[in-house]
Amino acid sequence: MTTVSDTIDASEGVTDAIVSARALTLRFGGVTSLNNVTIAQQRGEILAVIGPNGAGKTSLFNCLTGVYEPQEGSITLRPSKGGEVSLLKRKPHKVNNLGVARTFQNIRLFNALTAVENVKIGVESRQHAGPVSAMLGLPNQRREERESDARAVELLSFVGLAAQANELAASLSYGQQRRLEIARALATGPELLLLDEPAAGTNPSEKIELTELIRRINREMQISVLLIEHDMRLVMALADRVAVLNFGKVIAGGRPEQVQRDPAVVEAYLGAAEEDEAS
Ligand SMILES: Nc1ncnc2c1ncn2[C@@H]1O[C@H](COP(=O)(O)OP(=O)(O)O)[C@@H](O)[C@H]1O
Ligand SMILES: [Mg+2]
Repeated sequence: MTTVSDTIDASEGVTDAIVSARALTLRFGGVTSLNNVTIAQQRGEILAVIGPNGAGKTSLFNCLTGVYEPQEGSITLRPSKGGEVSLLKRKPHKVNNLGVARTFQNIRLFNALTAVENVKIGVESRQHAGPVSAMLGLPNQRREERESDARAVELLSFVGLAAQANELAASLSYGQQRRLEIARALATGPELLLLDEPAAGTNPSEKIELTELIRRINREMQISVLLIEHDMRLVMALADRVAVLNFGKVIAGGRPEQVQRDPAVVEAYLGAAEEDEAS
């Protein structure tokens, strides 16, 4: 039986990685939030990262997206157009330009802007007309504006928010805000989409819609999805593979049904449940 202190290589069996992180260690003072984490995502798959609160899941996303700089390890992105690029020491917007988009555990939207305006911010991050042509209303700027309107509307309808296009983000329901954040991330044209607890705070029918949406993003848009999620039904329904973090270490990895039976995983979750009871 594996014990909690073992570290698992969650890149095993990955033959065509879109992203791989090797031996990542991230510390904050005395806290080690990632401890020698090795994980890779197969191009085209839905990979779920699960684990108790404080396990290091969001820290991993923050390392992958340039928010945190790990003290040790490497992160390599392999875009579909070929080549490979290190994601270390890159600012979040640069990582985004390379084809990695994300949503946040705590929704981040421009509340005073409408749904369509929020999505256009994502589209425009990929466009080229600079501020000068925008000010002068030059032809390529006007063309880009039309394109970005069209793309934003298209994405809103893809996530089921066509009817809410002109509503303020703040006025949308929680589940709608989660989907709007996904639309904005999609607007940046990613090959890899990182979703940090997209179902948190949503109701059962919103969870079903969200499951369907994530599946369509993966299959129809052919975007690789890295998913942090607590809802095990959603994870089991969607994930091709699951990696389990506990105290900053990968303690299990594999097919969902394998991982669910893994004694180390059961132990980690039971331990976490007992701590919750004690506190
Ligand atoms: N900016 C930070 N400063 C200090 N500690 C942090 C910071 N970010 C994360 N941590 C710590 O790293 C550990 C993992 O946190 P996190 O990655 O948010 O876990 P999870 O997303 O799995 O709940 C926690 O102990 C947390 O307190
Ligand atoms: Mg988190």
